[in-house]
Amino acid sequence: MQDTTREWHLAKRPQGEPDLDCFELQATDIPAPAAGELLVHVNYLSVDPYMRGRMSAGESYAEPWEIGDLLKGGIVGEVIESNSDRYSVGDLVTGEGGWAEYSCLDADAAAPVDPSVADLPAYLGVLGMPGRTAYFGLLDIGEPKPGETVVVSGAAGAVGSVVGQIAKFNGCRVVGFAGSDAKTAWLTEDLGFDAAINYKSTDDYADALSTAAPDGVDVYFDNVGGPITDAVFELLNLDARVAVCGQIAHYNAESVPTGPRKLPQMIAPRARVQGLLVSDYAPRFETAAEQLSAWVDAGKLVHRETIVEGIENAPDAFLGLFSGENIGKQVVEVAASDS
Ligand SMILES: NC(=O)c1ccc[n+]([C@@H]2O[C@H](COP(=O)([O-])OP(=O)(O)OC[C@H]3O[C@@H](n4cnc5c(N)ncnc54)[C@H](OP(=O)(O)O)[C@@H]3O)[C@@H](O)[C@H]2O)c1
Repeated sequence: MQDTTREWHLAKRPQGEPDLDCFELQATDIPAPAAGELLVHVNYLSVDPYMRGRMSAGESYAEPWEIGDLLKGGIVGEVIESNSDRYSVGDLVTGEGGWAEYSCLDADAAAPVDPSVADLPAYLGVLGMPGRTAYFGLLDIGEPKPGETVVVSGAAGAVGSVVGQIAKFNGCRVVGFAGSDAKTAWLTEDLGFDAAINYKSTDDYADALSTAAPDGVDVYFDNVGGPITDAVFELLNLDARVAVCGQIAHYNAESVPTGPRKLPQMIAPRARVQGLLVSDYAPRFETAAEQLSAWVDAGKLVHRETIVEGIENAPDAFLGLFSGENIGKQVVEVAASDS
């Protein structure tokens, strides 16, 4: 085993869109696990849009990082030292660690990884936090019913791709917005979406959506905000439900965009708009994990990961989320695994 670990720290706060100067790769001693902790050799780490909020001092739905802090996120790896009865050396685990080659995890907050169900990267996507977000956001807030129309923005991403498939399992018509023809083809050909709109090659989103969703929109799962959301709001049906999961179109904005206010469009449909924070569902994570695993194991729930190799490329992988480089879940391979 090497003596040092390379890990990414916050070098400066971004103004608008982050760039590589915001990140600093440092080499440091491998940490010693405290009581109740595991030392993990990291195979894969997750980069997620919410981390953009953590880079800023201002308010977001996640606590800000301080300049100089180790960047944190989901990891999957192998236990190489254990100070807990829960896990032994050699076990594969996932949990909240650092953007690092070696990371300490709180054993109580870690979860086991079963490579016979899915490859390790899936535990950061469909079988990790994004999968749980999709599961609870759609089923608890969206409350989809057979025959209804569900629209998903950011549909080819980690959360959106799972939302659309669960909506199909519930007998809905499903329409997705995504940013390339390769993504829309994946949604309709492999994931069973009824229609998908490439918003980067479409001028009039509301017009395209009225064709794709001729009976209007009963459930809108919003991952992006911005003009896509403005267009969906024009087509909400009576008693529509809107789950506000993410607003990535605004994450790099230096001030909150203003413009024509869309709230009047909530009145006639008596629409319910509800924010979603996946951590609220922690007491039910086990239920979601069992169901998502069963769907993946049965080959019913399709998943995909975009893998960038090398810890040195983690910031590039993160920045790519904002230009839509990923199909499915964006993951960084830190060290290939034999499992
Ligand atoms: N509330 C919660 O608890 C919670 C939990 C997890 C995630 N989230 C949120 O859910 C959303 C999706 O997260 P994820 O992990 O699944 O990310 P993701 O969808 O896998 O990746 C982000 C995607 O956003 C799209 N995008 C980027 N800028 C955009 C823009 N200006 N307009 C439209 N689309 C844009 C890109 O795809 P295109 O090619 O389609 O542009 C990109 O691939 C994020 O907003 C995230 O913050 C919230």
